[in-house]
Amino acid sequence: MKQDSIRISLTPGTVIPAELHSQFIEHLGSCIYDGIWVGKDSSIPNVEGFRKDVLDALQKIAPPVVRWPGGCFADTYHWKDGIGSQRPVIYNGNFGTAETEDNSFGTDEFMRLCELIGAKPWLNINMLSGSVREAAEWAEYCNREESTSLSEMRRQNGHDAPYQVKLWGIGNEVWAGGGNMTPQGYADAYRRYASAMPQFTRQTPDGRQRLPQTYILSGPDGNKPKERVHWTKDLFSELACYRQPNIGAIDLHFYNWNVTGNDDVDRFDESDWYRVIGGAMEIGDVIDEQYALIQDGLAQFPESEVPYFPNPTPKCDLYIGEWGNWHGSAFSAHPALWQQCSMRDALTSALTLDIFHKKADKVKLACCAQTVNVLNSLVLTDGAQTVLTPNYYVYQMYMVHRGGNALSLQTDSQPVSEQLDGVMAFASRTGDVIHLNIICTDFAEEHTVNIRFDKDVFCNGGETLASSNPTDCNTFDCPDRIQPQENHSAVLTENGWKVTVPAASVNVFHFQIASEE
Ligand code: AHR
Repeated sequence: MKQDSIRISLTPGTVIPAELHSQFIEHLGSCIYDGIWVGKDSSIPNVEGFRKDVLDALQKIAPPVVRWPGGCFADTYHWKDGIGSQRPVIYNGNFGTAETEDNSFGTDEFMRLCELIGAKPWLNINMLSGSVREAAEWAEYCNREESTSLSEMRRQNGHDAPYQVKLWGIGNEVWAGGGNMTPQGYADAYRRYASAMPQFTRQTPDGRQRLPQTYILSGPDGNKPKERVHWTKDLFSELACYRQPNIGAIDLHFYNWNVTGNDDVDRFDESDWYRVIGGAMEIGDVIDEQYALIQDGLAQFPESEVPYFPNPTPKCDLYIGEWGNWHGSAFSAHPALWQQCSMRDALTSALTLDIFHKKADKVKLACCAQTVNVLNSLVLTDGAQTVLTPNYYVYQMYMVHRGGNALSLQTDSQPVSEQLDGVMAFASRTGDVIHLNIICTDFAEEHTVNIRFDKDVFCNGGETLASSNPTDCNTFDCPDRIQPQENHSAVLTENGWKVTVPAASVNVFHFQIASEE
């Protein structure tokens, strides 16, 4: 059995935004239809047309934000097709979907889903085949309280109160399917779209105030090391020329591509394991690089020439609107991009979320691609059957970190983040409770971990997500093979607390500060 040690300082650090645990759903494969929406007349149990077992599962993990309708689908989506009683049938060829799309899941259904699961909506507007007017009217439909034709249309469709949508993605992957644009071309188009987006007010305890809306730039392809630097640099240089446009955030996409090996989701060996885990770790450097480029870019925005009309301080948060493992076999899957999820995927999801937690000063929102039946899924469905994947349980176990303060962790020799065949750890503190994630990336061996805190604590137990074989998945035949189990291994020794974690596992332990002395 291998041994590791961790030291934890209990001084509260950066607050972990709950939004790092957000989700992305798209009209792609069976994500929306069958996965989330089955319609009110379906024989599959449903609540107002939403698949009941999936709704129950999402309600339990309460995703803070859900991004919709794409992805690439957003690039050809006309929102008016998806409201009211007369909805056109179109063809959806998005990423091999090859299905007709009856638009039965549209804006009002998406907003209802968000209401039912307690999520904030992120709407991505169509910059490719749509228009500035169409985008502005979508905002009018969603957010206008005053009686206008569009707000009355929303009322007729059953929603009196404005939806108060605050997150607006201005284009998706505009460097590829979203228009094959250059930074220069996109910057010009962005200026027009962002300028045309209407403003709204809402009633607050302090009176009527402007609804804060965040316009999100299409960020770079995180998987292209040279291009992503050029994209962000050139985009900000363009945006900093002449008058400052309204910018709230930039949306980086990063997939952990597993297309070079001969393995598959549930068929891999030890070297495939470490290759894919190593691939997931790269996003940390991409975040550091992009954050620095954004700060450099913001510094280029000129001061106003006239002191009586100063420019607002430019600000741009880093969001990651799409991330997850993308295995080669997804390309030939039916439904499109349907992908199983093994313990390897659970580990890379946990590692990725911990990178976000550790870099919470730099990245403010991140959406897993995608929630149901596509790529790095949390839930899989087939006909009437539903399976919660190991990824789902990672999100469930990690909920305790939302809103907590990140803590600083070290081993005696090095930060706990560099050993691919060891343990990686993250801890946060909420009040006097500490939650410690220990991910054992060792393919074959269990580890004992000595944990020292700079104050006296006692252990309130923990949970472990593991399986007898790292290639294991939850399948329709065996849906509950992998579930969190209680971990009672914690003992107090003269070297601090000692816990044992199985090979290839995700663990969360809970400690309580005994005294602040
Ligand atoms: O998540 C699948 C696809 O990947 C999205 O539609 C697109 O934005 C990205 O390339």
